[in-house]
Amino acid sequence: MRDSWKITGETFSNDTESIMRNGNIYQIANGYMGYRGTLDEFGAEERVAVTLAGVFDRVGDAWREPVNAPNGGFTQVIIDGEPVSARHTAVLRHSQTLNLRNASFERETVYKTRGKTVTIASSRFLSAQHPNLGVIRYSVRCDKAADLGISTGIDGNIWDLNGPHLGDLRTERHEDILLVSAVTSEASKIVAVAEGIAFGVGRERDCDGSLRLVEFAAEAGKTYSLTKFFAVHTEFDRIGLAAADAAVESVRRAKALGYDACLAAHNDCWAEKWRLCDVAIEGDEAAQQALRYSIFQLLIAAPIAGSQNSISARALSGQVYKGAIFWDTEMFMLPFFLHTYPEKAVELLRYRIRTLDGARRKALTEGAGFKGAFYAWESQETGDDACTYFNIGDPLTKRDLRTHFRDKQVHVSGDVAIAMWEYFKLTGDDSLLLQGGAEVILECARFYYSYAYFKKDKNRYEILDVIGPDEYHERVNNNAFTNMVAKATFEIANATAEYLAQNHPKAFRALIDKLAIAQELPLFVDAAKLLYVPEPDPKTGLIEQFEGYFNLTDTTIEELKAKKIHPDEYLGAGQGLAVPTKVIKQADVVMMLNLFKDRYSKEVKRANWEYYEPRTEHGSSLSPCAYAMLAAEFGNLDVAYRYFMKTAKIDLEARYNIYVGTTFTGGSHPAANGGAWMAAVFGFGGVSADETHVAIAPRLYRNWKSLRFNLAYKGDSFTVTVAQDAVEITGAAGNAAARSFVVWGEAAPCAPGKSLVIKRDKKVA
Ligand code: BGC
Repeated sequence: MRDSWKITGETFSNDTESIMRNGNIYQIANGYMGYRGTLDEFGAEERVAVTLAGVFDRVGDAWREPVNAPNGGFTQVIIDGEPVSARHTAVLRHSQTLNLRNASFERETVYKTRGKTVTIASSRFLSAQHPNLGVIRYSVRCDKAADLGISTGIDGNIWDLNGPHLGDLRTERHEDILLVSAVTSEASKIVAVAEGIAFGVGRERDCDGSLRLVEFAAEAGKTYSLTKFFAVHTEFDRIGLAAADAAVESVRRAKALGYDACLAAHNDCWAEKWRLCDVAIEGDEAAQQALRYSIFQLLIAAPIAGSQNSISARALSGQVYKGAIFWDTEMFMLPFFLHTYPEKAVELLRYRIRTLDGARRKALTEGAGFKGAFYAWESQETGDDACTYFNIGDPLTKRDLRTHFRDKQVHVSGDVAIAMWEYFKLTGDDSLLLQGGAEVILECARFYYSYAYFKKDKNRYEILDVIGPDEYHERVNNNAFTNMVAKATFEIANATAEYLAQNHPKAFRALIDKLAIAQELPLFVDAAKLLYVPEPDPKTGLIEQFEGYFNLTDTTIEELKAKKIHPDEYLGAGQGLAVPTKVIKQADVVMMLNLFKDRYSKEVKRANWEYYEPRTEHGSSLSPCAYAMLAAEFGNLDVAYRYFMKTAKIDLEARYNIYVGTTFTGGSHPAANGGAWMAAVFGFGGVSADETHVAIAPRLYRNWKSLRFNLAYKGDSFTVTVAQDAVEITGAAGNAAARSFVVWGEAAPCAPGKSLVIKRDKKVA
């Protein structure tokens, strides 16, 4: 039977691709740093990376990207003078396990070398309680007596995509603690890693500054265990102590506490995360494991409290996509946090508040210049855009292609505004609005007003020259998704103004004065009404993705792909094969129909799903979940399930293209992971919440006996269990008030500490 809490591999494949894939699949992280799922003895060549959240650096003209710290987790056994490594030593047996319950990684490898059998086992975790800390237990056993050495410490040889980011590496020793500190290339800030071990055996001597060698005569069959603590602190952390002192101090404290105490505290934190966020699927182990793994990916990537960081498109699995934050966060990951773990949603949204000035700078300088906030397509710590104008390398010409992601994918600002408002709607908490959220919303509306074009003869606003979610069609006019997002932004800006004027008149006046926006507010009211959004055709129900889309060449994805000259050829940009055709990269109209599900009928949803589905290449991992959710909504559950599994298994199977053009894009896919949660809870669970109530209209996949999930709503917590013919809702005892649920159209208020069961035949028990 499959253990849905564990991901296990029973073989070691000694090829670069498998090592890279496993590095992603078995990664652990704690919101502060990520540690790829590589073996203890591996180094830069095997793409070991300790990637730091929110710490960016640039070398020369290369892409800015997150900094990888020196690896404080390095350990290698040396037997009779020979270093043991899965790369070079004969492996008799190997197994590795990622434990989802507490985000720990374990491996056990049995080697044959010099006529001896050596077993190496280790277990590592990055503390969820003390996010600067990593802890490892490592053991070695040899079937025959041998001279053993253990080389352990901090490996300063770092794998970077566009590095080296750390210069001036210095090694010090503070009593028995090793310290490597280095300086980032761009900001000249310190990154410090300290490491200490607890090992009662052998003689220790330094062999090379940051790695110590412990030598001892091992008895046959005896297991020798070592505990290792490492801590990463940087000058980017907002701490009182200098980074180096803080790192040494963290290791000292952890050593004094010991492995068991560190692990127990870490486990407690994880138990709480799962209590809030787990989703249980009864009757389908494969789906259960894939979904749990997806949720796990989101939890390990979630920013630490108070960091005001966000989650990048490849989370903490490395430096891909410049470690940048895309619309992925607001549209695909945020719903999970908002509905289960709102305190993490707050960090994600505060990140957008923190980077508002960057968005303002972008608005002013992009193209002819705009007003308000134009959020970065690829956002780093300041909110300035890390996306380049030539963002994809063409494998054929070896030239970089002009792409318009940065200057034309304007929907990102509305995605942020919608997210900000969703938080307010679902939590009822207006503090974020008052602490910058309202400012973000008004500035986004201001941006769209300056970007929009008023077409006099049609008495409507239009949004011209954009890219919608489908990146294969650039510079299009009136993209349905973008226009609808912009319209919603105006509506939200108006609702925000109204809410603040009524409830916080002083704060409202101060904000209006600060932004000098009083004259513009009536224009937003006008724009919300007069902004044009392509309508469903009255006969077919079809919505044209953008003006002229229906006139493009109709071809199949197979035919299109058969024309490729190079397997990694990019299908969009100037000469891309998809450009003159109806083939789209990812859900676009279908994404809109999910996001604005209340504005469209089931028939329209079905018609558009059926039309766009065969034309969608799913060239982005963001796409399948949109098709899953919508198919579930109109009742095509088998197809919905297929797309759900596609999004839920993406990182578990890790079989995706790792090159777009010449750009390396391997790593994890937190947007698809968020999509898996949405497909399960919104799709099959049929959940949709707004400021007045939570609606639940389940359509469970036939093989599922039940689906159980938690919902956070207006500061209260609920557990919902959906079976084929009944829904049970339990309100936590500590809830503040009865909340309105509507199940299969029937009102079902749930009081604190109470459970209610609603049968499909609408009887409330
Ligand atoms: C997709 C974008 C997405 C980005 C990062 C691209 O391939 O087209 O929609 O934001 O990847 O995940």
